[in-house]
Amino acid sequence: MTPRNPLRAAVSAIRPRLEGRTPRVAIVLGSGLGGLSSRVTESVAIPYAEIPGFPPPTVEGHDGRLVAGQFGGQQVLMQSGRFHMYEGHDAATAALPVRVMAELGVTTLLLTNAAGGINAGFRPGMLMLIRDHLNLTGRSPLVGKVVPGDTRFPDMTEAYDRGLRQLAHAVAQEQGIELVQGVYAGLLGPSYETPAEVEMLERMGADAAGMSTVVEVIAARARGVRCLGISTITNLAAGRSRQPLSHVEVMETANRVRDQLGALIAGIVGHANFGK
Ligand code: HPA
Repeated sequence: MTPRNPLRAAVSAIRPRLEGRTPRVAIVLGSGLGGLSSRVTESVAIPYAEIPGFPPPTVEGHDGRLVAGQFGGQQVLMQSGRFHMYEGHDAATAALPVRVMAELGVTTLLLTNAAGGINAGFRPGMLMLIRDHLNLTGRSPLVGKVVPGDTRFPDMTEAYDRGLRQLAHAVAQEQGIELVQGVYAGLLGPSYETPAEVEMLERMGADAAGMSTVVEVIAARARGVRCLGISTITNLAAGRSRQPLSHVEVMETANRVRDQLGALIAGIVGHANFGK
């Protein structure tokens, strides 16, 4: 049953489970990255089934739990398993974990995802720091009555925080990881794009395309949460290679660069000042 106030119900269920932990940074784990949550130490895991309003995930490669504990020398909250709108969830449900984490005290959000490379310089396995996004889902988690704690008209000028992006570049350089930067186009899915759509997206200024992240970032900005986004370029977008696209390829590439992305995230978390 969906609770009448899913945000309050979820927060009330989770808070006692944190046993006094006060994470200021949260990490949303995208396709193939769920395993990173096993690197959290002194951890507590809360399965989605035990959180009111959190539906069970339906996509392979996404499990469903929040994990709180130590990572990169900080108290973190990891969201392992997303609610995608292509699963039939509305934008508010897709953004529910973000609002919940903000309500629990999170001030900084690191989001990861898998994306198809549109930029001609991109190759599968590259990591792309999201400089900005195009919300092409046709949905927003802010439509309707203002959720208490949200602002009605959030500014999106620096949706992806400049300071965090500079830090990400510095950490990548220190670790010898190539980190390109680009614009992420968020689409509803679940079909991949047609080659004509990929051409359209390129003309619109997109460097990569995916099916998540944008509504989460909108909800985060409505609550003043700073965001950083990193896409794993898991494949070339449709029409950019001879091969047809497949979820198997997406997962294989995501798994291949998982450790590198994990190290980058740990480095960013370790160096950032999250304001206690
Ligand atoms: N398009 C949209 N979403 C994706 C892709 C893609 O090519 N690859 C991984 N997620």
